Amino acid sequence: MDSKKVHQLSGIVLSGFIGIHLANHVYGLFGADKHIELMNMLRLFYRNRFIETVLLLAVFSQIITGLTLFSKKRKVPLSGFGKIQLGSGLYLAIFLVVHVSAVFAGRLVLHLDTNFYFGAAGLNTFPLNLFFVPYYALAILSVFGHVATVHAQKMTRSIGGISPRNQAKWILTVGLILTMVIFYGLTNEFAGVEIPKEYDVMTGK
Ligand code: HEM
Repeated sequence: MDSKKVHQLSGIVLSGFIGIHLANHVYGLFGADKHIELMNMLRLFYRNRFIETVLLLAVFSQIITGLTLFSKKRKVPLSGFGKIQLGSGLYLAIFLVVHVSAVFAGRLVLHLDTNFYFGAAGLNTFPLNLFFVPYYALAILSVFGHVATVHAQKMTRSIGGISPRNQAKWILTVGLILTMVIFYGLTNEFAGVEIPKEYDVMTGK
């Protein structure tokens, strides 16, 4: 199987997880408790040893094949959407390495429950939030950017008079709205989030 096929296959597996993961974060809008309640249910599925192994293999394959495709494509002239596809893909490769390593370090080294508060701790502490706000926002936007550009390439017909290019712009708009919704739920400025003491180890408080 060539890099492109593996990238498509691992992309489909990963999209399944990212879909439920981001839906879980959107649900954080109703409060940390609700977010954690849903995460505990979802973990029964994705923390199953088999599923988690498949997921981690998909993350690994996605990064390796993505970087292989990136090195080939960056040499050819690209359209605006082509540039978004490459830029978002490169960011996601870096983000996934850092994010998944951080989650496993949190679990196995710091012995923390990597729940809502694990994401919210850095986002709600100055000056760490100067890093974490763009770090998470660009990740969510890159997911939607990457999906939108693939959609624009593959989709051949209009829906309700909306051309494939404009459908892709709608996907980007939905990504932007969901990013704002997720941040609203995760930040104490708006939702009154109180981070428990055991997460101080992450923020150096
Ligand atoms: C605001 C944005 C995000 C926050 C706050 C966040 C936070 C978290 C947390 C707390 C976990 C641990 C889950 C658990 O212990 O059950 C996690 C796991 C994970 N996240 Fe995110 N995440 C965000 C966005 C993303 C995005 C955009 C992606 C993909 C591009 C992603 C991919 C993953 C992966 C692959 C795992 C590991 C799952 C596992 O094997 O246990 N996350 N994230």
